[in-house]
Order: sequence, then C-alpha cells, then structure tokens
Amino acid sequence: MVGFLILLFLYPTVWMMWKTKMVGKQLPLGSWTCQPQGRLGNLMGEYATLLALSMLNGGRPLLMPKMGAHLKSIFEVSAAVMTSMESYRTPWQEVPLNDWMMDEYKHIRAPYVKLTGYPCSWTFYHHMSSFVRREFNFLPPLRDYATATLRKAMDGRKSATFIGVHVRRGDYVRVMPDVWKGVIGDADYLRKAMDVFRTRYADALFMVASDDMAWCMQHVDVARGDVIFVGNNNQAEPQRDLAVLSMCNHTIFTVGTFGFWAAYLAGGDAIYLSNFTLPESRFRLLFKEDKAYLPNWMGIAANLNTDLKHFFPPT
Ligand SMILES: *[C@@H]1O[C@H](CO)[C@@H](O)[C@H](O)[C@H]1NC(C)=O
Ligand SMILES: *[C@@H]1O[C@H](CO)[C@@H](O)[C@H](O)[C@H]1NC(C)=O
Repeated sequence: MVGFLILLFLYPTVWMMWKTKMVGKQLPLGSWTCQPQGRLGNLMGEYATLLALSMLNGGRPLLMPKMGAHLKSIFEVSAAVMTSMESYRTPWQEVPLNDWMMDEYKHIRAPYVKLTGYPCSWTFYHHMSSFVRREFNFLPPLRDYATATLRKAMDGRKSATFIGVHVRRGDYVRVMPDVWKGVIGDADYLRKAMDVFRTRYADALFMVASDDMAWCMQHVDVARGDVIFVGNNNQAEPQRDLAVLSMCNHTIFTVGTFGFWAAYLAGGDAIYLSNFTLPESRFRLLFKEDKAYLPNWMGIAANLNTDLKHFFPPT
C-alpha cells in the first residue's frame, strides 16, 4: 500500500523526466518555421521568406525535419532543424502569406509562428540578398559538377558568356492552360530572348536545362552552334540543373520558381516570359509580376493568341 502511494506520488515526476529525456526540451518561445509546400523552387522561396520575416520580427528560424534534411543535402543553409517530436508538439500558429511583402508581416506577434502559402517574392528578402544567396551556396559535389559542366561546354572556345536557359514544362503543359488560362513559353519566345543576348554578347553560349529536354532538343534552334543541352533530365535531382544554371552569367527562363531561382542566384541579367495568363485568370490574384521578378529584369510578352485559342469565343 505504502509502495503504491509512493509510486503514485512519484509518477508525475518520473513521467516528466522520461518526457524530457525522450522528447527533449520544448522549443523556445519565438521559434519560427514554415510549412513545406511544393518542390525545390517553392521550398527555396519558403525558406528565404522564413529567414527574412523571422529576422524582421526577432524570431528564430527553424526548419521542419524533412524540409531541413532536403535543403541541407543541397545547400549550405544555416537554420537549425527541429525534431519530428518538436514539430509535432509545438502549438504553432499558422500565418498564411501572400506572394508579396505586406506591412502587417512586420508585426507578427505569436509565441510560435508557422508561415504557410507559397511565398517566393523578392519583396520579402531582397534587402538581404547576399545573405540569401550565401544560404543557397551549393555543397561542394554540386559545385564541382556545375564547374565541370561549364568547363566541358567551353569545348575549346576562347571565351564564353554563359546564358542559363530554363524551360519549365512537365505538369505545367496542362495545368497552365487548363487551370490558369495561361501559357508556358514557346519556341518563338525562346528565340526572341536568345537573340537579345546574342546581340549583347558575341560569345553568348546558351546552357539549356528543362524538365522536358526532348521538347527543347526539338524546338530550340541550334543552327548557330551556340546551344548546349546541359539538363540532366533527372527530375529526382533538379539541384544538378540548378547548380549549373546558377553558375551562368545571365538567365532566360519561362515560368516557375525554379527558373526564378536560377536567375536570382546567377545574379546577372534575366529575361522572363511576361503576361503569360489571360487578364481574367485567377492566377493574377496570386501572382504579381512586379513582385515576382526583379525590376531590372526584362519581360518579353507571351503570345496568348495562338496558344489559348480555345478560350476565345469563336468568331
Ligand atoms: C561568367 O561565369 C563564369 C562561370 O561562372 C565565370 O567564371 C566568369 O567570371 C563570369 N564572367 C563574368 C564577366 O562575370
Ligand atoms: C504586360 O502587361 C502590362 C499591363 O497591361 C503592361 O504594362 C506591360 O508592358 C506588359 N509587359 C510586356 C513585356 O509587354
């Protein structure tokens, strides 16, 4: 009986000791994280936004376990990674974000913040761009792969100005017209954009990567001998293409956050596909071109007439 009472008395203490040992200490107040959503380009946008907003609000950025492991297998990201138990037990307050900076995001007051949405806009973090770019330094094996790829592309040339070209296709081939009433960039757009750089640099060398290399090989004009298909066509490892593109001097991309990051990390001039959805597209409520692409980048208007015929009433 006495033994039982002692056990009953000790039980909470023993439970607490066990919990602390097994579960670890609770995350400190002011811990911030973000909900991982989407693929590599999205995760990078979410991470950069987490860094910027937690810094503005005096919070400490932490990554959820899978996202942390993923990013740390590619980049030299500095944020700590929480355990699954910490992630699960913390009473997070979710803060949904638009894809552009707003004043209210400077005053987020909650003990535990979890950012949600698909933020990628430079308007969150461009004031600390060198920090963000350092966070996305590639790990040595990827850097070596990219360096070797560019060196091979030189192929005896005396000089080259590397223009990374990213052509996003894959699921967007259907999703963009069907869901968003938009287009994803055609051969004509790529030719116009490449001609801009051909005019600027006599030694322009285009390094083409895509999630659809077969389409690129059919549609990118190689007549001048200044195109190299570098995409490794391995969608499980998009980081290899991103490492190569980010090492180029300038960038051409079509749509998507992956192309954005290729251009942002390369840090030179960039050409993007502009106005790629019909004016009434719901996409325009979620995505603002001037918040998505840097002001010094150049847009080339998409051709909506030919590609979206089926949305126009028959005449
Ligand atoms: C262009 O990119 C290459 C490869 O990253 C680099 O070695 C070179 O210095 C860059 N050129 C300029 C003018 O920045
Ligand atoms: C995209 O549309 C906006 C609004 O109509 C216009 O101001 C802008 O010049 C267009 N962009 C391009 C590259 O044509």
